[in-house]
Amino acid sequence: MRGWPACLAALGPRFARAADPAPLDYFLHAAGPAAAPTMHLGWVMTAIASGVTMLIAVLLAAAILRKRSTVRPHELHGDHGGLMWIYIGTGVSSVALFAILVYVLGTLESVAAPSRTPALTVTVTAYDWWWKIEYDDDDHTHHFVTANEIHIPVGAPVKVLLQSADVIHAFWVPQLAGKTQTIPGQVNEQWIEADHEGVYRGQCSQFCGAQHAHMAFEVVAQNANDFAAWRAQQAQAQPPANGNVAAGQHLFHDRCAGCHTIRGTDAVGMQAPDLTHLNSRRLLAAGAMTNTPAHQLDWIARAQQIKPDSLMPSIALSVPEAASLSAYLSTLR
Ligand code: HEC
Repeated sequence: MRGWPACLAALGPRFARAADPAPLDYFLHAAGPAAAPTMHLGWVMTAIASGVTMLIAVLLAAAILRKRSTVRPHELHGDHGGLMWIYIGTGVSSVALFAILVYVLGTLESVAAPSRTPALTVTVTAYDWWWKIEYDDDDHTHHFVTANEIHIPVGAPVKVLLQSADVIHAFWVPQLAGKTQTIPGQVNEQWIEADHEGVYRGQCSQFCGAQHAHMAFEVVAQNANDFAAWRAQQAQAQPPANGNVAAGQHLFHDRCAGCHTIRGTDAVGMQAPDLTHLNSRRLLAAGAMTNTPAHQLDWIARAQQIKPDSLMPSIALSVPEAASLSAYLSTLR
């Protein structure tokens, strides 16, 4: 194989591993009240732009095809008869553009804040190239941190506080709300609400460096009971590791704990995703792979091949080390 076929064959396994082949193609179908008005606005603007383009094409074609003999002499001298069409065109355009402006401002106002008090507040911090998710609670023992997967109760507005640890990123869940930037040194606000249970794909939508395209996340909308159960489970720290996996935990402490936290253990690194409930998540490394034990080991050994320039080094492990680390990671439910 040469040329393009060879290139595509080389890319094949990488795409095959991606979690969802067409993750954002639902953006024309809003799934909540923060997204519906802007989606309608998008449709209306597209319709108007298409209509204007077609009208201009028709007028242009008519002008080109019009026989010269039918042009009246006074039109050639640019008197008021010819100028009248310019006045009409400018007038119609101005009225149409003003109407659109009013519609746009009304739409922005309608999605600026939810009509009800948000059911909860989630703080999202964007990092090169993953998302830290924090659930605050008045009772501090219920506060917890997770990564790349936001769970929300269905049918309730959720306030999202957005910040950045490094450069400008943008938080975008097309089906649930418009884009909002995360800006270093500033806290921006967004709100999301899902009408139905399900998984909604999100993506960083502001170019932020080499792995911008692999900076995805998911919003999982659950019924009230499932959400409460998830939240209670996430708030728990890990119990002490038992004898079988102590070697793996020791290895984790030596090689990984400088960056990663596992609550309930001595691993308190702050520069990487919290791994306390690693196996409760659907995807790995901000959507680069599905979360399976094999992919976890693949990621640890080849992070720099899978996500070049990411801030996790590829870590060489012997076969017994990989087995004991994997056994320990499998307890992180
Ligand atoms: C120098 C810091 C650093 C070290 C050391 C490190 N990691 Fe990471 N790790 C990261 C960063 C940063 C990410 C996020 C990468 C991304 O998605 O771009 C990450 C991501 C991960 C993920 C994916 C988490 C998720 O929810 O998507 C796993 C699993 C992981 N690391 C396991 C390990 C293990 C096991 C070790 C030790 C053998 C280790 N890491 C060592 C920085 C580190």
